[in-house]
Amino acid sequence: MKMNTLLLLLILAWTLSTEVFAQPPHILVAPILQHTDTNTSLYSITLNGGEHYIIDFDAPFTWYQCQSPQFPVGCNYGACSTARTYIPPSCPVNNTFTESQCYCNDAPVNPITKSCAPSQMTYKDMVLYWTDGRSLLGAMDFNRLYVSCAPLSLLQSLPEEVIGVGALSWSSLALPYAFSDLPDQLVARKFALCLPSSSEASGAIFFGDGPYNLGPSTDFDAAKVLTYTPLQADPTLLGYYINLAGISINGKAMNVPQNSFNVNQSVKLSTIVPYTTLKSNIYKTFIRDFKKAAKGIVQVTYVDPFRLCFNISTMGSSNNGLHVPQIDLMLGKGEKWTIYSPNSIKQVNDNVGCLAFLDGGETAEQAVVIGTYQIENNLLQFDFNQSRLGFSSSLLPYGATCGGFNFTVSGIV
Ligand SMILES: *[C@@H]1O[C@H](CO)[C@@H](O)[C@H](O)[C@H]1NC(C)=O
Ligand SMILES: *[C@@H]1O[C@H](CO)[C@@H](O)[C@H](O)[C@H]1NC(C)=O
Ligand SMILES: *[C@@H]1O[C@H](CO)[C@@H](O)[C@H](O)[C@H]1NC(C)=O
Ligand SMILES: *[C@@H]1O[C@H](CO)[C@@H](O)[C@H](O)[C@H]1NC(C)=O
Ligand SMILES: *[C@@H]1O[C@H](CO)[C@@H](O)[C@H](O)[C@H]1NC(C)=O
Ligand SMILES: *[C@@H]1O[C@H](CO)[C@@H](O)[C@H](O)[C@H]1NC(C)=O
Repeated sequence: MKMNTLLLLLILAWTLSTEVFAQPPHILVAPILQHTDTNTSLYSITLNGGEHYIIDFDAPFTWYQCQSPQFPVGCNYGACSTARTYIPPSCPVNNTFTESQCYCNDAPVNPITKSCAPSQMTYKDMVLYWTDGRSLLGAMDFNRLYVSCAPLSLLQSLPEEVIGVGALSWSSLALPYAFSDLPDQLVARKFALCLPSSSEASGAIFFGDGPYNLGPSTDFDAAKVLTYTPLQADPTLLGYYINLAGISINGKAMNVPQNSFNVNQSVKLSTIVPYTTLKSNIYKTFIRDFKKAAKGIVQVTYVDPFRLCFNISTMGSSNNGLHVPQIDLMLGKGEKWTIYSPNSIKQVNDNVGCLAFLDGGETAEQAVVIGTYQIENNLLQFDFNQSRLGFSSSLLPYGATCGGFNFTVSGIV
């Protein structure tokens, strides 16, 4: 608990006492932007009112491009030992020893190029918003969070307006842990991510419990429509994994060998992979079964990187978008994650829509990597305390979208 934070809480408590809220707010929120200037559509979290950090479920700590840091972190800090456990073998880096001091160095990784660079561990203030889940109530300043000061070269292949990577992993150095590290568990140890489907409207990331108001009316709380499935915890692996029992298309289970999915860590969630990838054997069956179920829709020559494309004008429409076979991810305990056309068909031009899943190869590490196209306009809640993932499936049938949160700054901010 840092002094400024405490002060802010006190001011906030005072501000709130003049408002209608009976309790202090327990939710923090920040905008999520979609970047469309690269091949990979990436998403960033906006902190400090305008700094964009690519979000990454696998990153152990946040890093940004900076000159040599004003306040380097000493080697004897626990955070230094933690950061150094994530040094990739390809990036050996020693700490910096001066006459009387030892300063901490670590090695952040660029999630696109996978390159790494020796960097100095430092501190940075981060500001985001308090909310009651409906509108913004004030600013919250976290002082001196641990981040890494990386060379400019590490930003290669990331969108131009981005200054670094925001870690959303479960590591104790990542943002979800830092933002819930407040007294009296004011902010619950969970976060909810909602990726927008275009760069026009900001999506949202909430730290703490709901409500998460994403439209259409101020009464709609996306936290109320979540279904839960266990997160597969593996203390040796950052990132988030779930158990998949199978995939069904129009209600019919895909016929793949029994052990295709039921290996630990076989289904991974990613904010970096643009389209869900399936291991080759699963992918082949998936394409074949989808084609079969899409009887009546005219297939056209495929457009890279996809392998199954259709004439959109032969699809017809339904309540949930285009009329195409419904895909269900059958999760470990019988929960069903439904994927409708806005998350399964990518329109590549006026006439052509393609099945937005890719072949992950024969030797893919995971059977399935769930990519960002499949989670746009879906709310995902990562609950650390209960080690579970809450998912909404598409919010569109509720009339809500990830762009539905009201980020309009009112007087008190
Ligand atoms: C986009 O992808 C193409 C083909 O994969 C590649 O040649 C090109 O360099 C990529 N562009 C960017 C900006 O990454
Ligand atoms: C790190 O320190 C060790 C021991 O002093 C030395 O052998 C090694 O070359 C150093 N590595 C780098 C990358 O500086
Ligand atoms: C999967 O995880 C469970 C529980 O941690 C363990 O008992 C089992 O041996 C693991 N299976 C494989 C194939 O790694
Ligand atoms: C799609 O179908 C429509 C109507 O049948 C036809 O006019 C059009 O040429 C087709 N487009 C493509 C790309 O096949
Ligand atoms: C953790 O979860 C349990 C239920 O599994 C709940 O009773 C408890 O209040 C939670 N603790 C926090 C800090 O959220
Ligand atoms: C969004 O929030 C602002 C400030 O709280 C408020 O004035 C405005 O009416 C809200 N807009 C909608 C559509 O609710």
